[in-house]
This record gives sequence, C-alpha cells and structure tokens, in this order.
Amino acid sequence: MLITKKIMIIGSDVKMYDLINKPNRNSGSLIYLDNAATSFPKPDRVIDEIARCMRQYCANPGRSSHTIAVRTNNMVMEVREKISDFFNVGSPSRVCFTKNATEALNIAIRGVLEPGDHVVITSLEHNSVLRPLNTLKRDIGIDISIAWGNKFGEITPECIKNIIKPKTRLVAVTLSSNVNGTILPVKEIGEVVNNTDAFYLVDASQGAGTIPLDMEKMNIDMLAFPGHKGLLGPQGTGALCIRKNIRLKPLMQGGTGSNSKYLLQPDMMPDILESGTLNTPGIVGLGYGLDFINTFGIDNIKLYKDMLLERLYNALIEIKGVSIYSKLDNNSGIVALNIDGLDSTETGYILSNEYGIATRAGFHCSPLAHETIGTIKNGVVRLSLGCFNTIEDVDAVATAIKEIAARAGQGLFVHQQKVHPKS
Ligand code: ALA
Repeated sequence: MLITKKIMIIGSDVKMYDLINKPNRNSGSLIYLDNAATSFPKPDRVIDEIARCMRQYCANPGRSSHTIAVRTNNMVMEVREKISDFFNVGSPSRVCFTKNATEALNIAIRGVLEPGDHVVITSLEHNSVLRPLNTLKRDIGIDISIAWGNKFGEITPECIKNIIKPKTRLVAVTLSSNVNGTILPVKEIGEVVNNTDAFYLVDASQGAGTIPLDMEKMNIDMLAFPGHKGLLGPQGTGALCIRKNIRLKPLMQGGTGSNSKYLLQPDMMPDILESGTLNTPGIVGLGYGLDFINTFGIDNIKLYKDMLLERLYNALIEIKGVSIYSKLDNNSGIVALNIDGLDSTETGYILSNEYGIATRAGFHCSPLAHETIGTIKNGVVRLSLGCFNTIEDVDAVATAIKEIAARAGQGLFVHQQKVHPKS
C-alpha cells in the first residue's frame, strides 16, 4: 500500500515513472544495479549537450575573448551557478570543479591540515578519505580518531562529539555509506562541529542527487561530490564547494587564465584551486544532469528510489540463505547482501554472467565499513539503485537471487572461490 501511495505521489507530480521508462537504454537486456559506482544510463539531454558542446563551441573557458571562448565560459559559469543553487553554497565562485570526488576530498583534506592536527572521521569513510589521511599521518604526523558505527554503520552525533578534541582541525563524514547505503545524520553532526574550531567536510559521493543538501543550513564547510553518480553527469566531473572565508592550500599550481603575469598562484576563488583547462564538455553535461534532477525534483527521486528499495528489500529478506547488511530506513538506495556458501565475488559473477545483472561485489574501497558491518572477510554483493531502475528490474533481481540461493543451498556450485580478486 505504501508503494502504491508513493507511485501515485510521483505520478501525479511529474509522471516520473512513465518518463524514465522510455529513455536511452542501449544496454540490451542488462539490468544495471551498480549506480553507486557510477550512474547508468545518463539522461539523453546530458549526452546530447556534451556532443553539442564538442561540435559547436568547446573552446577554453576563461582564457580567450573570442565568441566561442566567451560562450564556453558562460556555460561553465552557468553550471557553477546551478551547483551553488542546488547545494546552497552561497556563491558560484566557491564551487571548484575537480575530476572526481577523490580529487575534491584530497584538496579539502590536504588544504587544511598541518602537522600535529587531529581529525575525526567515521568508520564508513571511503579510501578517498582514509588514504590521504593515513598518508598525512605517516608523512607529517596527524592524529585520526574514528567514530565506529553499529552493525549497520549507524553513527549518532554524540559519537562524533565524544571524540572531538581541542586540537581537532577537521571532521570528515560521508553522507551515506557506499557499501550498505546507511545515511548519516550530517545536519545534526554539523551542529556539533559548528560549536568547535574544526572544519566540517562532507563526502556526498553517495547521496548527492538523492538526498537534499544545504551547506548553509547544515553548517557544512566543505562539500565534495562526483558529477557522475547521483547527479547524472559524465565521469571525469566533480566539485569541491567551500563556505565563505575558508582558504585552502592548493594541491596544484598552474595556469588559471587570470593574473597571467604573476608568477605565483592567484589568491582568488575558484582560480586558486582550479589550475589547468577544465573538463568543459563534462561540466556542461553535469549541468544538464542537475536540470534533470531539478525537473523531477530531488524529493520525488528519493521517493521513487525508496519505493524500489522497499520492494527489493522486502523480497530479498524473505529468501532463505541470504544475509542482508543494509537497513530499509535511512538508506540512500543500496542493498548489501551475501548468499550462504558463496563468496561475494562469485555471486556477483553469477549475477552478471548468468542473469545479465550488473552489481559490484567485494570491498568497495571501504575496508572500515566492511569491518563495521562484519563483512571484512568475504565482502558483500552490492545492489545499488538509480532513478532509471524499474519495478521490473528489482523483481528480476530478487528472482535471480532466490534462484542462486536455492542452487547454493543444494550445493550446485562447484567453483566456490573468489572470481574477481581485484575488488
Ligand atoms: N566509490 C565507488 C563505489 O563505491 C566507485 O563503487
């Protein structure tokens, strides 16, 4: 009944279900449930506008003053404005384009930390946070404290509060786990961090485009995200958004198109953090990804994904021999699971090769998250939903998992071993 109600809400509003079921599915009969790695497919408009940019006007933004350079610059500026509005950054000049969330997180982390600083993170962080921090710990001497989640990765603001010290310079928190979808209370954690001297960095890699974010209201100092996941843009795009009066040491220095006679990096935003030619076609595509989300409404996208998640979860939870490591509530759209008797990578392989279902199995670059949910030995199979999935997709996946679990229960798989060791 809940599902029907939700569909009606979406249907009456934007006819999302009808519209999303006639897009560019060039993937044959593939069922794509790997949206946490990158969303697929992309809206037609995103693809068409990238091609149009490259065919008609893709000059170098911010460098020259001829007509197509000006047009290119205006397009890039428009996307800065769209991002600024979307996340309530406060100014487009504080939106710095990057090639992905990893680069944005590195700029933020390395841009604020000094030797001896203390950092608070959660056990759900991705290697894009863990690795730069542990490299700094080794190379310049920083301290790291970790707020450990419960078996679903849930973390309260009090957990964060309890480990903040007077020397804490940075609190870095993921918006939601890329392993099992658990959404963290980033607004409430922002209230905790706001009462300290620390900077608050949110990694919105999983959840941007599904969960509404407001940097001002949530007291977020720095927001990092990729353009190619929930924001529906192409790979090679991302951004770091920064609140007023935060100065970061740049990771790179180089050409910015501004102050060209000056031999040091210009001080102004975003130039200080954006050396070299930008990924203009990608940024243009990202802008149309944002338009797509704004057209449907982020709340409708969340409702739609919640409806699919509920249907998938309720079907999977009934299956004998299947362990589920995600919760239904407070979830950005992921079911993490294992089938008894099968390594996660073997299940992923069978889903792909026998059923045409794309998932990601293994450890998802998030070792501490796997320790948290108790799956560090075998990893999990991750089913990650996107706004282009359908009810038929989730029903087919549930049927496939049921069949595989039944076969595994009868001992019908002989090669029960890791299939993709690089996970
Ligand atoms: N970080 C991406 C994932 O979770 C690539 O799959």
